[in-house]
Amino acid sequence: MATITAVVNLDLPGPTISRHVYGHFAEHLGRCIYGGFWVGEDSDVPNVRGIRRDVVDALRAIGVPNLRWPGGCFADDYHWEDGIGPRDQRPRMVNSHWGDVVEDNSFGTHEFMDLCELLGADAYISGNIGSGSVREMSDWIEYLTRADDSPMATLRRANGRDEPWKVPFWGLGNEAWGCGGNLRVEQFVSLARQYATYTRDHADNRVYRIAAGAHEDDYHWTETLMRSFDPLDQDDRPATPFQAVSLHYYTRTGSWAEKGKATEFSTDEWYLALSRASWMEELVARHSTVMDRYDPAKKVGLVVDEWGTWWDVEPGTEPGFLYQQNTLRDALVASVHFDAFHRHADRVVMANIAQTVNVLQAMILTDPESGALVLTPTYHVFEMNRGHHDAAALDVHLKGAPEKEVDGRTLGLVSASASTRGDSALVSMSNLDAAGAHTVTLDLRGRDITGHRARVLTAPGLAAHNTAADPGAVAPSVHDGIRVRGSLLEVELPAHSYLTVELDIDAARIGVPSMSGRRQDLFPG
Ligand code: AHR
Repeated sequence: MATITAVVNLDLPGPTISRHVYGHFAEHLGRCIYGGFWVGEDSDVPNVRGIRRDVVDALRAIGVPNLRWPGGCFADDYHWEDGIGPRDQRPRMVNSHWGDVVEDNSFGTHEFMDLCELLGADAYISGNIGSGSVREMSDWIEYLTRADDSPMATLRRANGRDEPWKVPFWGLGNEAWGCGGNLRVEQFVSLARQYATYTRDHADNRVYRIAAGAHEDDYHWTETLMRSFDPLDQDDRPATPFQAVSLHYYTRTGSWAEKGKATEFSTDEWYLALSRASWMEELVARHSTVMDRYDPAKKVGLVVDEWGTWWDVEPGTEPGFLYQQNTLRDALVASVHFDAFHRHADRVVMANIAQTVNVLQAMILTDPESGALVLTPTYHVFEMNRGHHDAAALDVHLKGAPEKEVDGRTLGLVSASASTRGDSALVSMSNLDAAGAHTVTLDLRGRDITGHRARVLTAPGLAAHNTAADPGAVAPSVHDGIRVRGSLLEVELPAHSYLTVELDIDAARIGVPSMSGRRQDLFPG
């Protein structure tokens, strides 16, 4: 078996990995909001003001930093005024993208902000450019964030909320190249600048505005947005009129018509999914290169506000509801994405997996009949990676990792990333090899290791997944496959596994922080 070494210089911390790359996304789609988060106050399911208590408790345990809402495609059909005031008097609308169902608007602005407060998450509101107006956008942010007796603040109070909320993140449209208006980027940049202007900072609320960005490898879209900024070389001023651009990429093994099955797949499809997931590394690298040309000081953030697996829906479920199971393969898709985000922490300031409950690559699945809640393998990756939130990225130099040619791309079968904070460090490792275990020698330099703890996420089968009948089929456990040899740690990675090693490190030798980071002072903390 080849010797795999991972060299990590613990005394050379790089840019901060924003906790916001562990962000989430909740759309009015299928059973994400209704049945997932929202059951209503009269439900038998234990709830807090209509919001499922068990869902909130599970999500609090992974530290959800921000939640994007109300879409997705739905956002560009959504008119926020329909979702305020007494619930039984709210107008209805057709959710034309997702199942063509009638939406009764019972979950609106107040319910969403209540959810964010329960989760301890920052609000990321996706504003409607596709079918909304500048005035709607302007009124919404005033309604949410203004404290005085302005017209919108007065309306908010009349609807039962005295104090303004904080809204740090605001999306300007969604997929403007598709469901958000089928616009050309040249057309969209003017709209993005105009809507950004009217998404105002009220009182001490500072909004970080994110313009709808590229699909996959559409570098022209990113380049055109970058050209549209006010001059970016003006001393310490933040980027204007918006502060970030987004990027969307979904992992699937088939076509959009037949995306591949969530739980029935061959070993070839295992590798194909992981190879396609690893494309995220190239996407963020190349979009960042385009951005660097216009913004070498890295004032503008790259926000990957939709990512994850997109499989065929579970048999017997409504095609427009995007309900899919979630296996060990999905967990490794997630870990590979996080490695890419950590490596590009200087540019990727935020990311949102699609979506939190019952839709696409969810953290949580709920049973529509029994109400039972299941944590997915992907949930466990988020939990195991909590130590990376707001920690300083560390480079991991991997040598000797086996590779496999898949779909015209070279897939490294071991993926890793690391971070440090104070007297601890966290190393995350994924073994993408479907059949073979590997031993990685961690060569930890620059500071002394005084303790270590490892956990592993794996299961006998590649398609192992959790169900109400077997909720712990894929769950983390303590890993004792580590041997210490001086300053080297030999870590056994079981086949198809995800593993984290938490290190206690001495405080003696502190290095000089890297100067290559992004302008962190320009991003909400
Ligand atoms: O996440 C599901 C959908 O995928 C979103 O609504 C849309 O933005 C994307 O195409």
